[in-house]
Amino acid sequence: MVSTKPLTGEVYYPPEHLVRHANHPDYEAIHQAMLTDLAGEWGRIAREEFEWFAPWQKTLDDSNPPFYQWFVGGRVNIVHNALDRHLNTWRRNKVALLWEGENYDQRSLTYHQLHREVCRFASVLRAMGVNKGDRVTIYMGRIPEIVVAMLACAKIGAVHSVVYGGFSVEALHGRIEDSQSKVAITADGAWLRGKIVPLKDIMDEALQRSPTVQTVIVVRRTGQEVHMEPGRDLWYHDLMRLPIAETCIPTEELDAEHPLFLLYTSGTTGKPKAILHTHGGYMVGVATTLKWVFDLKDDDTWWCTADPGWITGHSYIVYGPLLLGATTLMYEGAPNHPFPDRWWDIVERHGVTVLYTAPTAIRGLMRFGDAWPNRHDLSSLRLLGSVGEPINPEAWKWYHRVIGKGRCPIMDTWWQTETGNFMITPLPGTPLKPGSATLPFPGVQADVVDEEGRSVGPNEEGYLVIKSPWPAMLRTIYGDPDRYVQQYWSRFPGMYLTGDSARKDEDGYFWIIGRVDDVIKVSGYRLGTAEIESALVSHPAVAEAAVIGVPDEVRGSAIYAYCILVQGVEPTPRLVETLREHVAHEVGPIAKPAHIEFVTSLPKTRSGKIMRRVLKARALGMDEGDLSTLEE
Ligand code: WTA
Repeated sequence: MVSTKPLTGEVYYPPEHLVRHANHPDYEAIHQAMLTDLAGEWGRIAREEFEWFAPWQKTLDDSNPPFYQWFVGGRVNIVHNALDRHLNTWRRNKVALLWEGENYDQRSLTYHQLHREVCRFASVLRAMGVNKGDRVTIYMGRIPEIVVAMLACAKIGAVHSVVYGGFSVEALHGRIEDSQSKVAITADGAWLRGKIVPLKDIMDEALQRSPTVQTVIVVRRTGQEVHMEPGRDLWYHDLMRLPIAETCIPTEELDAEHPLFLLYTSGTTGKPKAILHTHGGYMVGVATTLKWVFDLKDDDTWWCTADPGWITGHSYIVYGPLLLGATTLMYEGAPNHPFPDRWWDIVERHGVTVLYTAPTAIRGLMRFGDAWPNRHDLSSLRLLGSVGEPINPEAWKWYHRVIGKGRCPIMDTWWQTETGNFMITPLPGTPLKPGSATLPFPGVQADVVDEEGRSVGPNEEGYLVIKSPWPAMLRTIYGDPDRYVQQYWSRFPGMYLTGDSARKDEDGYFWIIGRVDDVIKVSGYRLGTAEIESALVSHPAVAEAAVIGVPDEVRGSAIYAYCILVQGVEPTPRLVETLREHVAHEVGPIAKPAHIEFVTSLPKTRSGKIMRRVLKARALGMDEGDLSTLEE
């Protein structure tokens, strides 16, 4: 509950005109209504805002927790709501996707054009033997075809599994193998800082390790020569010219709980897990959160700077904005290419009205100084957003003052791959405190609890949990329902465990502290220690490895690796470089350790678990704390 007392601490109040015209209902009223009748309120929204092929019988089925189901029995397809339905309105010729290449190539696709492309590619996929329920791996840079590919899969009821283009061979291989994809879609390369990321080469190497993929469709983007495996690899553009690429095919009518996509993410231990989201609930949640939090209107140009390969891109570059009939901007390249004002230049040239980005990017661009943004007219902006990690008040204030000119409230949205949509976030009318994600989204029962699952008092740190289901929640871990129960619902029965620690202040505002598990957030990217450790150990010089995150001013965390070398191997500076490159090659450049230290033993508990807490204390030169459970 928000108290009516004056708020404590440093508070920024929203501009009055913005609140008066905002999309969202009165926070207190809707939050209370949802807490009283969660299913009733979501049911009403789902009926009013979306088109269904057939109505559902039960809005929320909670008879088999934690396997919650939403809109049970309803027939729907997210693509019908994101594309098809707009064609019967004036939005038909409105720009859906506005794209800028790193080399300043420009493309825009109206709803009509995007729908046409999606139909053509969907019928190509069908002709390639992709059926309802089949998984398709998509591994591309930020180009319009990634959006087309995702929507084409969804249109025919196939399940996309997008692998971030910054991942590399082993990460890609593992995700293809786990999802058992028969078809993969990639590009010859991607542009990044004027250089080519050789996506097709990486795909080829990954496929050598897993021969299950029968067809690879390749988009030409960078134009360099690539190997095309006869009988397996086909050019996207060739296929799209064939008669099989029909320009208008019906959208598959699916069960509301039909799987929409898998997205792999790092968890506490072991290999990345495939988070499963479904058509109905995800659609309702993602569109509603975007509409209320970022107040999208028909004249907005929305820019989410994330990559489509992460949940932020799925929900808020692709599905959310298209469901709302908005114009969504996608930029291919690096924020500082060719100069540190590239983003501000894009905001100015395209008249971006709402900008959603990550603290790491803000901190990075802040370092170049105010002169770069100041040479651009940023007056089109009316709202700003942040996601991915806690934003430090200094970066918040710079973003607010230098980019938003003190006029634009900052929506600091806390959420996760698993949650599908924003969970703790301001609405445009919420008084803001720099560094706080503020309050739960209407209907979300978030809390901070102690080791026993009891709510803690104001300003006490504890586990962040969610105490009731929500439409866009993950449904399971694909292929591993036990792990779903184990990982998220076992620590405190009846509560969803987020993996984050947080505190709630006397006003009920949430302050996220960070992960309490083996997840490291590097530049907002979510990485698991296990994946990096196994990459290190896969090098013949390394016998054992342990990885931790240490604070880094721009990236949030940097990776610090401890390695025990195989007997007889010399610990040289050259080997450090070799191992860093090895991790980049196997997992991806983002996973490259910033530091590698060679050691002869690792602190472990008697049961053999590495004590990361001890390693962290050592790396930071701090007290190692209670060592009573240490093995030796
Ligand atoms: C962190 C990204 C503080 C958090 C959408 C969470 C945040 C993890 C915020 C999920 C925020 C995300 N403030 N921390 N506004 N947003 N996080 O799955 O640790 O890539 O658990 O989803 O990012 O990362 P993921």
